[in-house]
Amino acid sequence: MKIEFESASLVQFETPVLVVAGFESSPASSGTVELLPAETRALLDELKASGELTGKALETTLLHHPAGLAAKKLLIVGAGKKEKVSTDVVRRFAGTATRYLRARGIHELAWVVHDPLFGMAGDPAGVQAVVEGAIVADYDADRYRTEPNSERRIDRLVLATGGTPPSEALGAAAVRGRILAEAQNFVRDLVNEPSNRMTPTILAEQAQKMAARFGLECRILDAEEIRNRKMGALWAVAQGSEEPPKLIVLRYEPPNAPAGSPVIGLVGKGITFDTGGISIKPAEAMHEMKTDMAGGATMLGVMQAIAQLKPRVRVLMLVPATENMPSGKAYKPGDVITSMSGKTIEILNTDAEGRLVLADALTYAKELGATVLIDAATLTGAVTIALGNTTTGVFGWNKEWVDKVLKSAEAAGERMWPLPVDEEYRELYKSTIADFANTGGRYGGAITAAMFIGEFAGDTPWVHLDIAGTRWSNEEKPYRAKGPTGHGVPTLVHLLMNLGN
Ligand code: BES
Ligand code: MN
Ligand code: ZN
Repeated sequence: MKIEFESASLVQFETPVLVVAGFESSPASSGTVELLPAETRALLDELKASGELTGKALETTLLHHPAGLAAKKLLIVGAGKKEKVSTDVVRRFAGTATRYLRARGIHELAWVVHDPLFGMAGDPAGVQAVVEGAIVADYDADRYRTEPNSERRIDRLVLATGGTPPSEALGAAAVRGRILAEAQNFVRDLVNEPSNRMTPTILAEQAQKMAARFGLECRILDAEEIRNRKMGALWAVAQGSEEPPKLIVLRYEPPNAPAGSPVIGLVGKGITFDTGGISIKPAEAMHEMKTDMAGGATMLGVMQAIAQLKPRVRVLMLVPATENMPSGKAYKPGDVITSMSGKTIEILNTDAEGRLVLADALTYAKELGATVLIDAATLTGAVTIALGNTTTGVFGWNKEWVDKVLKSAEAAGERMWPLPVDEEYRELYKSTIADFANTGGRYGGAITAAMFIGEFAGDTPWVHLDIAGTRWSNEEKPYRAKGPTGHGVPTLVHLLMNLGN
């Protein structure tokens, strides 16, 4: 999608579709609608009187040959209640306009940004949200259809400033919106891939390709090196699979990072397929476990974005990638394994594999110099019982860093919520014969899983994001296709940008 600015007056601007936003209650006289000539607004007043136009959030009203405008069509998107507008809402209505128009064979739209919604001069945050929302909305998972819907994509998004030339800040905001959206779509592409086309080897190749394209340092540890480095927990999960494991390591080292500033270690769960292993999962929803590398994909997306946005903070990313398979070589319930840290783990359930691969990745991240650890993982079904599919669970002992993540989520317009960690839960994953057991039972399952990982972070500040619910959307939304969401990328990028600038 090409993004361009256009500063012609709205009346004279020739475009296939001009898009304006109107608030609820007085849609014909508020929002961007205010910038339309009186003739056009009179038309909207009529529609409002007839009850066809309300301004309710995500309502779409398309007019052909709108009076008073050179545009061929005028789309009015409901912006909802004025008090409730946030960048998240703006993303959604930009996305809604995008999907609505491309479903009608339109390939180009002009979005009015000179806009009381975003402040009269056009607010950079608003422009960023429009671009991000449009590019995220224009994504579909149709790679494997023999007749893809590509003719329905939007080719060109024009940001119409209605008479004033765009400021430099608006241009930069549009670029940021594009980078963020493309990073989310990259994550969605990786998560969508079925496990026969997204093995640990292929995931590592994708990481390498991305790193080469955006100038990141990349190193892949293969099976031999994983074993030689005594990553016994990662190895235990990997040993049942015919597909060799990989540990993906990316580095972002800006030359201008302040001396003594933290090295942020991002660790993402990269299980390319989770059968459950010998503690095998029921068949019913097993196919969904191709998405069990979503945490790893999220971190790769974050790296892609920061490689372009260049915050002044050092970042190290690790993705332990493997399948979790049952086989004659697979690890078994009751086995005792020794993690890279030296701590021993009794396996009570081979389906609690995520925390094992993360344990070793966290240990190695510290060895490589990470001074703060943030992990993202599709770790537990339990977190979806607690928070549903819209909200990520956030865990950690270090209040300062947990708060930083939660504040970033709020600013980036993503739903994340803290769940407790507490000494008392440690009882639940005690083992009778080893240092820890790898499960703590059903009750508080998201918490004990998180705390197990935290045992390997030790004294290093650590925040865990359980994205088992938020990685995927089972419904098609007016502003987003069904399937992987790219959730987490905006929050973590926001965090890193604020740490380093
Ligand atoms: N990958 C799953 C968690 C999951 C479930 C992700 C649903 C996305 C959607 C994880 O490896 C797992 O199997 N967790 C178990 C842990 C249990 C055995 C302690 C679970 O949640 O049931
Ligand atoms: Mn599992
Ligand atoms: Zn899993």
